[in-house]
Amino acid sequence: MRKDPAVPESTPRTTLVTTKSALREHRAAMDGTVAAVLTMGSLHAGHLALVERARELADHVILTDFVNPLQFGPGEDYEAYPRDLEADLALVDGLVDLVFAPGVEEMYPVMPPTVSVSAGRAGTVLEGAARPGHFDGVVTVVAKLLRLTDPHLSVFGRKDAQQLAIIQRLVADLDLPVRIEPVEIQREETGLARSSRNAYLSAAGKEQALALSRTIAAALAAAPSLAGIQDALEAARERAEIDWDYALALDPATLEPAGPDHRGEVLVVLAGRVEGTRLLDAAVAVATAP
Ligand code: PAF
Repeated sequence: MRKDPAVPESTPRTTLVTTKSALREHRAAMDGTVAAVLTMGSLHAGHLALVERARELADHVILTDFVNPLQFGPGEDYEAYPRDLEADLALVDGLVDLVFAPGVEEMYPVMPPTVSVSAGRAGTVLEGAARPGHFDGVVTVVAKLLRLTDPHLSVFGRKDAQQLAIIQRLVADLDLPVRIEPVEIQREETGLARSSRNAYLSAAGKEQALALSRTIAAALAAAPSLAGIQDALEAARERAEIDWDYALALDPATLEPAGPDHRGEVLVVLAGRVEGTRLLDAAVAVATAP
């Protein structure tokens, strides 16, 4: 593995394991708290922010690197998904204790698995509407990876707000003994949520895309009034600086639009296109008033 100049000489190297039995052996030898960072590889700065948070929160970090075929639909090219384990290892060498990078047969000796997990209706709305089965595949692999890595906590980015909400339901509904730790969205100085897709935007497109973070700011400023949050989202949709797919205030437990009596956390989710590039943003507001 390439040596990272930011990692001091004394930092122990990262160990790569590819089998469940080797993972269990290394996991059993870990004293103290363990955090899991679940990824499909092709690691970038966003993943490093998750690793950094995991390192802050736990004594040991296990990173999983597995392109999960179950979460790809028939029209989505699972075979073409980028894979570069060597580059991934170079990026996290010395930053995580263990990388678990199993093959498909190791993860799914029977393919498709006879028993799998369903994300329910929450998996069929928003991002799931155009990707039938995607979130069922996500929760099935996440349940397996959490079982295998047996962490005290696992970190997930807030940007994939629907995935995070569904994984929080997975853990609550199946009583999985792990804490899900959301990691805040990384933003550019302008407020634009960081994404590899921002590279497709022209300077004018980037300016236009700020409507997303401004809408988030307006929704948060309107809290704790639920109607205020909803009005801010409606006003943004009407201004149509973005070709909106949705700009909604949701009940995080069900991913249904928050009803007038909803109180507590509200998940604000935005998705839309700028110059043909699909962008997401999200935040959690707290509504304590109508
Ligand atoms: O967010 C991802 O990269 C994947 O959906 C996850 C959570 C690693 C499951 O394959």
